[in-house]
Amino acid sequence: MANTEHSFEEIVNHLVTSGFVYPGSDIYGGLANSWDYGPLGTLLKNHVKDLWLRHFVREIEYNVQIDPAIIMNPKVWEATGHVANFHDPLVDCKYCHSRYRADDLVKSQCPDLDVDGMDQKALNETVQSGKIVCPKCGKNQFTDIRQFQMMFKTFIGVTEEKSSTVYLRPETAQGIFVNFKNVLRTTRRKLPVGICDIGKAFRNEITPGNFTFRTREFEQMEIEFFFRPGEDEKWFAFYKENCKAFVERLGLRDDHVRYRDHEKEELAFYSSATTDIEYLFPTIGWGELMGIACRGDYDLGRHMARSGQDLTYLDPETHEKYLPHVVEPSFGLDRLMLALLMDSYDVETLNEGKDSRVVMHLAPELAPYTVAVMPLSNHLIEPAAELFKKIHPYFDAIFDTTGSIGKRYRREDAIGTPLCVTFDFDSQNDGMVTVRERDSMKQERVAITDLVEYIRHFLDSRRA
Ligand code: GAP
Repeated sequence: MANTEHSFEEIVNHLVTSGFVYPGSDIYGGLANSWDYGPLGTLLKNHVKDLWLRHFVREIEYNVQIDPAIIMNPKVWEATGHVANFHDPLVDCKYCHSRYRADDLVKSQCPDLDVDGMDQKALNETVQSGKIVCPKCGKNQFTDIRQFQMMFKTFIGVTEEKSSTVYLRPETAQGIFVNFKNVLRTTRRKLPVGICDIGKAFRNEITPGNFTFRTREFEQMEIEFFFRPGEDEKWFAFYKENCKAFVERLGLRDDHVRYRDHEKEELAFYSSATTDIEYLFPTIGWGELMGIACRGDYDLGRHMARSGQDLTYLDPETHEKYLPHVVEPSFGLDRLMLALLMDSYDVETLNEGKDSRVVMHLAPELAPYTVAVMPLSNHLIEPAAELFKKIHPYFDAIFDTTGSIGKRYRREDAIGTPLCVTFDFDSQNDGMVTVRERDSMKQERVAITDLVEYIRHFLDSRRA
């Protein structure tokens, strides 16, 4: 795997032109920082989700998956403190009207200041001190900080009245907490129990950007793991190990991944420990992929107080009644995908510098298509199509008939297809096809009757 020698922009350009990602609402001129996944991006996304589900749901005996609603009773967000506190500090340049997050602005220009430890007054004084300049126009005059609510509001019902205001969820986690009792009751499980969810979350970010790294609509893969108070360290360590193993399974380069424990001052008041997994993106540097947080009984406690429902757990063995504690591993799916795409992109020189190819060295089980089937000549389209029909019920496969075989190989390399199968004139007589592997570019003849098994074995042998 490669990558530090290619810029963020170069790789984004490849992802957009090859169809992993499209600009959102493209035919209307787009919508700022909105992106749609094309067929390639969607397949990759499905494969990352499948791996996450296998790793965290199927292979961890304590865990189950649910799929809660995006729009929840607004009392949920009052209980969690999101209505009161899910704000970003916003300032505008008085000259060019560019808008910034005040904390990001100060952090980028005064790296020695402890910005996370500042209250709003101190942050505002720093912004107004004259030392901070607008990155766009260079002037140093800003409006006072205003708090900007990051939850998207919408309305249910036919009138836009206050009584029917609801929010698009800013995290999937709360759909899990409000279902804690339902899951325990209906699954008859005992603690520890992990409840997992994959779904969309929405945040009205002041400064979205860096392609799909920070958007207003994104997907999260979250787990709330409930256990007996006092076992916090044990389960935190368990999930740190498991998240690390998951990142290794994805195949990201070791030296592009780091684990960052939060300092005491950085921790939310209810959290006893938090670790972030970060990835070294080209050009933009280290960025957070996910966080693992010890959240104690904060969320269940808030929901119990606000809803009036008893969310305590009665231990069937010890007969103790307690409010479970929680460890939360929270992955951003879009950021994971972006890291995978950045990490796997490479431009290789071939034939002693006479030729080159763009290649995505994605792990074979994650690549959008596992296999491309190609007829060598237009005269062979029919039997090759028959072969394709045999393959694609088992694997994500593509039938590619246009251009020379060399061009088709390059096209498949550029989207990460690990195997290309060519049906040639001999295939009709000897029942064999040529299988070409993406990374080594080695070719071998394989019997058509063995092909499904061959591909299965190839995938299994490359799984981490
Ligand atoms: N329930 C905890 C929670 O939501 P978070 O750190 O705010 O924690 C978790 O979000 C993950 O979601 C982040 O590590 C990141 O990968 C992803 N994420 C958060 N905001 C995002 C955004 N605006 N665009 C894309 N991904 C985002």
